[in-house]
Amino acid sequence: MDLSARARQLAPSPTLAIDRELKRLVAQGEDVVSFGIGEPDFETPSFIAEAGIEAIRGGATRYTAVEGTPRLRAAIVAYLERAEGLRYDPDEVMASAGAKQALYNALLALVNPGDAVLIPAPYWVSYPEQVRLAGGVPVTVPTDPAGGYHLSVDDLRRAYRPDVRGLIINSPNNPTGAVLRAADTRAISDFCQRHDLFVIADEIYQRLTYGSEPSPSLASLPGMRERTVIVNGVSKSYAMTGWRIGFAAGPPEVVAAMGRIQGQTTSNPSSVSQAAAAAALRSDDRTVEAMRLRFAARRALMLEGLGRIPGLHAVWPEGAFYVWVEVGGLSGQYDGRPLSDGDVLARFLLDKAQVAVVPGSGFGTRAAVRLSFAQSEERIEEGLARMSKVLQTSA
Ligand SMILES: Cc1ncc(COP(=O)(O)O)c(C=O)c1O
Repeated sequence: MDLSARARQLAPSPTLAIDRELKRLVAQGEDVVSFGIGEPDFETPSFIAEAGIEAIRGGATRYTAVEGTPRLRAAIVAYLERAEGLRYDPDEVMASAGAKQALYNALLALVNPGDAVLIPAPYWVSYPEQVRLAGGVPVTVPTDPAGGYHLSVDDLRRAYRPDVRGLIINSPNNPTGAVLRAADTRAISDFCQRHDLFVIADEIYQRLTYGSEPSPSLASLPGMRERTVIVNGVSKSYAMTGWRIGFAAGPPEVVAAMGRIQGQTTSNPSSVSQAAAAAALRSDDRTVEAMRLRFAARRALMLEGLGRIPGLHAVWPEGAFYVWVEVGGLSGQYDGRPLSDGDVLARFLLDKAQVAVVPGSGFGTRAAVRLSFAQSEERIEEGLARMSKVLQTSA
């Protein structure tokens, strides 16, 4: 059968591709260390899992309201106020099957065919593909490696063109870990208002920061709430990737449109997962804090180990659970191709060290690879030792 042009142009997710390859090798009995997919290795906290089990036992196994149960929407409202000081009404928030669906709903609700959407790079792999699926045109906004990949208004000015309608901001950023600087937010918000842009603020890593500055939400700035859709979820902060619950908060007419889109495509996210997510969002901050501290220790371990491997330059992540590693300093070759190409290095590390990393090409550049430190301390040490060994001899 002939595939649609839409399906033909869609690039597969490189992070999921690495994960597939990893699972294949593991099934063959290979001992692969995964620094690949962005998923906490922790179990979902038991009180959250219990809330899901209770929901099944209590018969919460039917369709719910498309936008989520009143209980979950109330929990989202309470969470946004507690964690970010943002006040939303229940009809200004909705739940979806992961932050991914919340993001896609928002793009379908806001992008007309041919509309350009600014995407700061390095970017999370799905943004350009989702913009294309929505009929829009992704416009990459390079950020400055020397400036730690912090988005500045000058970056946006350089990339701007008259058909731009929106901007996707991801802070803390996947893959670089960069957190939007408070000093830049005012100028960025002025820029968005001057050009009448919508903003999708993907705050999925908002709770996972390691420095002194929390990640400010653009929606909290004057004049921004009415043009911003916040996307967040429980996947990363509560170790709930498989439950598939994300959420969005924004102007009521946009959230209503997103609800109509979801109503005609997937309907409500899983009723059982909604009950568990409500328990997560209502819990006190100790749950997230315990995991954040573990991530902070792993981050230190990862940075220290990477710092000892010549030719690699690890960018200091302020948030999320990834290290963005620039590989331009490597001089060796693999299969006649330079290791300073992230795609080549990722293949080399998988073949020769049984270490899975994600090539930077999916995030917009071949000059880097991304390593996730959402992995046990022992496996981080093992993976780094293997990398060091093969790179000392080949680089
Ligand atoms: C920046 C960013 N946004 C959204 C998502 C999707 O989250 P979810 O698993 O809740 O769909 C991810 C997951 O990797 C992510 O890194």
